[in-house]
Amino acid sequence: MKTLNNILEAIGNTPLVKLNRVVEDIDADVYAKVEYFNPGQSIKDRIAKHIIEKAEKEGLLKPGGTIIEATSGNTGMGLALIAAIKGYKCIFTIPDKQSQSKIDALKAFGAEVIVCPTAVPPEDPRSYYEVAKRLAREIPNSFLVNQYFNQWNPEAHYLSTGPEIWEQTDGKITHFVAGVGTGGTISGVGRFLKEKNPDIKVLAIDTEGSILTHYFKTGEERPDLARPYLTEGIGEDLIPATLDFSVIDDFVQVGDKESALAARELTRKEAIWAGWSSGSALAGLRKYKHYFKKGDVVVVIFPDHGSRYLAKIYNDEWMRQQGWL
Ligand SMILES: Cc1ncc(COP(=O)(O)O)c(C=O)c1O
Repeated sequence: MKTLNNILEAIGNTPLVKLNRVVEDIDADVYAKVEYFNPGQSIKDRIAKHIIEKAEKEGLLKPGGTIIEATSGNTGMGLALIAAIKGYKCIFTIPDKQSQSKIDALKAFGAEVIVCPTAVPPEDPRSYYEVAKRLAREIPNSFLVNQYFNQWNPEAHYLSTGPEIWEQTDGKITHFVAGVGTGGTISGVGRFLKEKNPDIKVLAIDTEGSILTHYFKTGEERPDLARPYLTEGIGEDLIPATLDFSVIDDFVQVGDKESALAARELTRKEAIWAGWSSGSALAGLRKYKHYFKKGDVVVVIFPDHGSRYLAKIYNDEWMRQQGWL
């Protein structure tokens, strides 16, 4: 029988799908790595599985323990899947700008979710980073996943996402495009691909309001330049330790509205119902058009599923309230 022993074995080996109508004015062939085919419907299942397996091997997480993380939702979902299968408790801290549906989804797996204010600096004791750290200090037999600092995050992509893309394109990939949150995806995949072929260009997508693009272009860390934005999953108000700028060739910023409209276009024209940051990836890819020529093989990451954004970008009333329709 061709069966899996549990749902965790369905993580990874996602399809690479050619984009057609949304890239009509791009000369290259563009393929999307559609990460919502993971069981938690996002790319973060990969890091959740890898980090928990490593923590178990190194004795950092013992049976009956508690997994703690500051997560904007998708990493939590991956961790919640694993906790449900392996019998761990889970506590997540989450910023208050996140979709209510993401919070409810985590609770469906039995996780505890603590909502923290978005509009405070990362070092503020009320921030979702600091609350997670405090809980990890206070709760015995707990493990803080720490996706912004844990090098097992990019390592997961170096070991799975990167090799899959290389094999699926028969090594013909010329450009890799991905949004940057923790930077785990772009750093791990970027490192793997550049080791295989240093000519491959690695192109990052950031949001307006994030400080990452300024840091990449100038080397200056300017948290004062951060301002609130709505897109979930990408852009930062700090420089994550998991982000390796040395494998990245360029950075562009995309706004909330253009990302939302691009995600909706993707659904209508390609029937790929992906999340908000996938819209950012598509809109950003178009800004990189000058990099691509006929015969190039471009791979873009679509990190998660559109159903998580039903109350936002896929709700016409909400879109009208923003003035975006
Ligand atoms: C929806 C979504 N898109 C993109 C990303 C960015 O991926 P990474 O953290 O690997 O840079 C994340 C990560 O939080 C995400 O949740």
